[in-house]
Amino acid sequence: MPKMKAVAKTRPAPGAEIIEMEIPRPGPDQVLAKVLATSICGTDLHIFEWNEWAQNRIKRLPQVMGHELCGEIVELGAQVKNLKQGDIVSAETHIACGHCYLCHTGNGHICVNGSIFGVDIDGVFAEYALVPAANVWVLDRRIPKDFASVMEPLGNAVHTVLAGEIAGNRVLVTGCGPIGLMSVAVARLCGATTIIATEINEYRIGLAKKAGADLVLDPKTDKVVERVLEATEGLGVDVVLEMSGNPTAIIDAFAALRPGGRYSILGIPDKPMEIDLGKHIVFKYATVQGINGRLMFSTWHKTTRFLSSGRLDLEPLITHRLPLVEYEKGMELMKRGDCGKILLYP
Ligand SMILES: NC(=O)c1ccc[n+]([C@@H]2O[C@H](COP(=O)([O-])OP(=O)(O)OC[C@H]3O[C@@H](n4cnc5c(N)ncnc54)[C@H](O)[C@@H]3O)[C@@H](O)[C@H]2O)c1
Ligand SMILES: [Zn+2]
Ligand SMILES: [Zn+2]
Repeated sequence: MPKMKAVAKTRPAPGAEIIEMEIPRPGPDQVLAKVLATSICGTDLHIFEWNEWAQNRIKRLPQVMGHELCGEIVELGAQVKNLKQGDIVSAETHIACGHCYLCHTGNGHICVNGSIFGVDIDGVFAEYALVPAANVWVLDRRIPKDFASVMEPLGNAVHTVLAGEIAGNRVLVTGCGPIGLMSVAVARLCGATTIIATEINEYRIGLAKKAGADLVLDPKTDKVVERVLEATEGLGVDVVLEMSGNPTAIIDAFAALRPGGRYSILGIPDKPMEIDLGKHIVFKYATVQGINGRLMFSTWHKTTRFLSSGRLDLEPLITHRLPLVEYEKGMELMKRGDCGKILLYP
């Protein structure tokens, strides 16, 4: 049996290992993709570091890490009709069952029987990866191959930005990790008229300006709520896009939201947190919504159009390109936050 190299979590402890394993063969509804590139997500760092969330969530070891894919289809399962060898693909990482209430009602992204690449099943930090055919997204030829793996986190940003009114609105993006940065860029493209971003990492503050933020605040030195109110005639922003998962950022953003505003939350706090529901949501008449994953597949269509039209350029946000075997260096950069998106090449 031919073998391949993969970066796998092998033990319930910090770190990962390069292992040799058999190249898997696709089941009837799967394809085998040769991995051309992959990118590192915050989730991968959590699994690598083996934080509390990973300890509770990962049930299966050893497991190949990674879920953000740019691949070329090299083999099709017997039942797969809509794809062909040679297709360059990205992949939706929420694997839906297709028959639960949520799947039936167009909400496959929150399928009750759902599983996730690189979390519940082998991922894509490898030379080859299996992908359920239903999760394959064929890359529009006009989109640079290097953007393919980034389409998944970009989809999180697109989903969040477009989850309510955005054109003509003043927007606060809290947290400028890769997804916050992409949210700034997408909000700008969609006609937000003022974009204020917050971030604590110097390198990412620079990237937020590049991505098109009008004002970037650092909560370590700036009084965020005051500055946002100043910039909005004391009213507050129309829209908050929460991309940090940081409790202080989350509370401050409620104070910086105008009455009747939209507050869309993608960021995930490490643990439960307290919030004054009456003050921040009820009396503020705020619309608060959680955002999970990407709509399958309307978000992917929109993300494709943003990229294929050339109107959205991800290049400034891809800050590092490394061989897959240097994944530890990538994890280190991610940990420090001195990066945008990091691509790994097998
Ligand atoms: N809901 C979903 O489906 C989904 C999917 C992917 C990621 N996420 C979550 O979305 C968030 C963004 O993802 P990411 O990959 O860009 O994560 P990330 O961790 O790279 O980015 C978070 C950023 O917030 C910054 N930050 C920390 N404290 C801050 C503060 N007080 N004020 C302002 N900024 C602060 C950090 O420096 C970092 O740059 C994360 O919380 C992640 O867990 C959610
Ligand atoms: Zn991801
Ligand atoms: Zn389902």
